[in-house]
Amino acid sequence: MRIILIDELPHMHRRETSGFCKFVLASAVLCILPSLAAGKEPTAPGRITWDEDIAAVMQRHCIDCHRPGQAAPFSLLRHRDAARRADFLVQAVESGHMPPWLPEAGEHAFVGERRLSPAELELLREWAETGAPSGDKGGEALPVPEVASEWILGEPDIVLEMEEAFEIPAANRDIYRAFVLPFDARQLPHGAVAAARIPGSDFVGVAAAEVRPGNRTAVHHALVFVDSTGKARKLADADPDYGYERFGDPGFEPSGFLAAYTPGSSPKQWPPGIADTLDLNGDVVIHIHYSPTGKPETDRTRVGLHLSREPVRRVTAPIRLGTFDIEIPPGKTHHRVTDRFRLPADVFVLAVTPHMHYLGRSVRVRALPREGRDSSLLLDIQRWNFNWQDRYHFVEPVFLAAGTVIEAEWIFDNSANNPANPHDPPRHVSFGPNSSDEMAEVHLDCIPLDLGDYPVLSESMEDAMRDAVRRLTPAQRKRYGFE
Ligand code: HEC
Repeated sequence: MRIILIDELPHMHRRETSGFCKFVLASAVLCILPSLAAGKEPTAPGRITWDEDIAAVMQRHCIDCHRPGQAAPFSLLRHRDAARRADFLVQAVESGHMPPWLPEAGEHAFVGERRLSPAELELLREWAETGAPSGDKGGEALPVPEVASEWILGEPDIVLEMEEAFEIPAANRDIYRAFVLPFDARQLPHGAVAAARIPGSDFVGVAAAEVRPGNRTAVHHALVFVDSTGKARKLADADPDYGYERFGDPGFEPSGFLAAYTPGSSPKQWPPGIADTLDLNGDVVIHIHYSPTGKPETDRTRVGLHLSREPVRRVTAPIRLGTFDIEIPPGKTHHRVTDRFRLPADVFVLAVTPHMHYLGRSVRVRALPREGRDSSLLLDIQRWNFNWQDRYHFVEPVFLAAGTVIEAEWIFDNSANNPANPHDPPRHVSFGPNSSDEMAEVHLDCIPLDLGDYPVLSESMEDAMRDAVRRLTPAQRKRYGFE
């Protein structure tokens, strides 16, 4: 694990810290991304029609994905497309399957939450029950949303494109593949590098990374990492085809995490002065999950990087919770594993990324303050779905004081009742990177309040990692390659 120290920045001084915090909070509230477009709450009682009520609900919550060329299997732009499956739409929303959004509503809001209000769901229900009428305008189709630019965040500083098109077979199975993107730091605009450089290092600050899938139907999710170890290249060289096959993790310990993409997700940006790190001598690696469409497809995905425009004042530091001690007996419906980490320093938590595979059922992350104050729920996912993994950015960074214990709890369902269970009949599942194995991880992107605390955090993380390995049995250590 690698954490960049910026405590030697010549222009920074410890005393700036508290001012900076106010700045972080203020700018986070003001600048972190387009929050939910606040649509008008529907009120009209009486007859519910497409024209008057339902088109607006579809527009707000569904057509980002349910329109031609996007990831969802059918369009919801037209009255007749929605009306003929009205009950199915209600069912998908009632069950929580749609719109796809894993975290429960909680005390800390996330950027870009997708959720219907109870009133909107009620409208949809009533509309379906009364025969899904079109309305006075005859069921006008919604306009296809205009896309101002190909890149939502504007023209990136550099676009990294897959070197060749990957041929996705028609095979009826999901494919997990990683690609080293051609990246040459010399192609970055010189001024942009100078502005974003972390002094005294070969790293630059990345304020945002935007993923443009080459094939919107087949690309189901993608994660963008930085590899400073050269391992990804070796894995790619060893694979006869373009890229390398890999499930679970990317196959190396990333020195940076730049973006997560799922269909319909908007790219997220850090507040000014905060950045992820990119090693100018490293590789940018994209790990893509392709879902089959029933016919052969090709994909050439691109990643646009936006370097930090402001001097980098804080880089995101990872806090990882996780356990390798995962042994799930077949048939068990609630197999619980946990991990805890005591914060050695005051931090702001900016984002949280959970990870499990197909047996995952729920994941919860709690902050337990030191002195009898109430615990706070940072993340609560009750219906885990491997297909909709994301990095969740808090609308307001969450402050946690030194001494706070962060506790994560993952629950797995290894019964035949779990429709995602890759084994039929269920069998014993252990920790590992393959789709048939499991993982239990939570990654928090933090910034320490005090610049001097970067090494304190990273040392604590390394200790926690060593402890996690120490807790394994010799047989487990051997099996997972820790010896
Ligand atoms: C972020 C993208 C996205 C949004 C927003 C979205 N959908 Fe979907 N929807 C999908 C994808 C992808 C699938 C197919 C894969 C799946 O079922 O998970 C799907 C599938 C469905 C299905 C079929 C489910 C099944 O069991 O086969 C229904 C019904 C549906 N969506 C309704 C809706 C409705 C209604 C809304 C708005 C309230 C909505 N969706 C919003 C992406 C989206």
